[in-house]
Amino acid sequence: MKLKIQAPRGTQDILPSKAPYWDMVETELMNLAQVSGFERLEIPTLEYTELFSRSVGEGTDVVQKEMFTFSDRGGRSLTLRPEGTAGVLRAVLQNGLLQNCPLPLKLCYLITCFRNERPQAGRLKEFHQFGVELFGSADPSADAELIFLAAKAFEKLGIPNIKLQLNSIGCTDCRAVYREALKAYFKPELSNMCDTCQQRFTQNPLRLLDCKNDSCAKVASKAPSIADYLCEECSAHFRRVCELLDCLGISYTCNPSMVRGLDYYNRTVFEFTSEDLGAQSAVCGGGRYDGLVESMGGPAQPALGFAIGLERLLSLWHLAHPEQGDGIRRRCQIYLAHRGDEAQKMAMKLALSLREKGVYAEFDSAGKSLKAQMKQADKLQAAYSCVIGEEEIKSGKAAVKNMESGESETLSLEKIAEPFSSLSRD
Ligand code: HAM
Repeated sequence: MKLKIQAPRGTQDILPSKAPYWDMVETELMNLAQVSGFERLEIPTLEYTELFSRSVGEGTDVVQKEMFTFSDRGGRSLTLRPEGTAGVLRAVLQNGLLQNCPLPLKLCYLITCFRNERPQAGRLKEFHQFGVELFGSADPSADAELIFLAAKAFEKLGIPNIKLQLNSIGCTDCRAVYREALKAYFKPELSNMCDTCQQRFTQNPLRLLDCKNDSCAKVASKAPSIADYLCEECSAHFRRVCELLDCLGISYTCNPSMVRGLDYYNRTVFEFTSEDLGAQSAVCGGGRYDGLVESMGGPAQPALGFAIGLERLLSLWHLAHPEQGDGIRRRCQIYLAHRGDEAQKMAMKLALSLREKGVYAEFDSAGKSLKAQMKQADKLQAAYSCVIGEEEIKSGKAAVKNMESGESETLSLEKIAEPFSSLSRD
């Protein structure tokens, strides 16, 4: 028996019946981004591994455990991108966009990402992100602008019950003081905490606040709060972000224990979550990464961004729109059946000319019998059908049948080639 090859676990096909939902969501997101001044950027799926270890961070789960990494023929290490920010920044620097484009530079992208995580509901090895990145503004209004954009996206798509969690993790200066305070707090508790927390204690004590393990979370709940350690500038920045969000009518919860899993962040970090997603509740994550551009060899320019996980977004969209079903087939608008060689030419010409005018017209290009062609018209849920034979070619007229009502109307072939009133351009 031949081996039936399946898609790797944690990856999925987007079948034609689902693709229209993807088109709709992607179009909505891109329209919103573009009307907000974000221009589309395409970046490669593959990057040199050091791009991610230097930006996302050596000590993060993403870099330590989750990357798909391999060597090219020359022995150089390549990685399938686990996220978009690093690649966008690499492209910005490599192409001199910060020097050649007006600042702030605003970019958006639709990409696939790859993380070698254990698959579970809402967690895939290959998934899709829509993201935006803004370079060249340290002002809190840029934070508010981005958060507003993400909130608008959920609103436009009619997705309820999304919660915004907001925090500031300060700058390198105040975070250094906070790290020490955290270490002093966690040190005596460490023997009762999980292995991961014990490892993180030295490398990245902020991530101890993030552990899902019950006993660790209990310890973390009483840990010192970053809010008490922010320096005056970081504190003022965060206050202003909150003030601007209030003024824009965006509700949020300040969560001082929210730290993101990627190392490049400073100051504002945020996540949009939904309880409807279960354990993997984050649908969008982002924040500032003011030091990253410079640390990656670019000019000292502040930056920030966010990414929305499209699989999670679509599952929320389906929950919010049960009336839309979970599969759509595009309906054929008119099926032009034919019998005989001359009729085939005519049906083909009519169908192709209707398509040019924006009408989805179909004809048989598989040599089916007339009976099979009519079955095909049914399968394609054609709104109209029309049979063209010798008779129709001679008279220059054919009966166009409304497949739902069964009524027919005889029209000239020229008229059929025009999108007549009932054939709308959808
Ligand atoms: P992230 O929080 O790692 O941030 O990912 C953003 C979103 O991608 C998550 O909120 C989630 O919806 C989705 N996501 C992440 N991992 C998976 C997975 N394994 N399966 C399905 N969906 C997933 C970033 O990636 C940052 N680059 C965001 C950013 C942009 N920060 C600044 N600019």
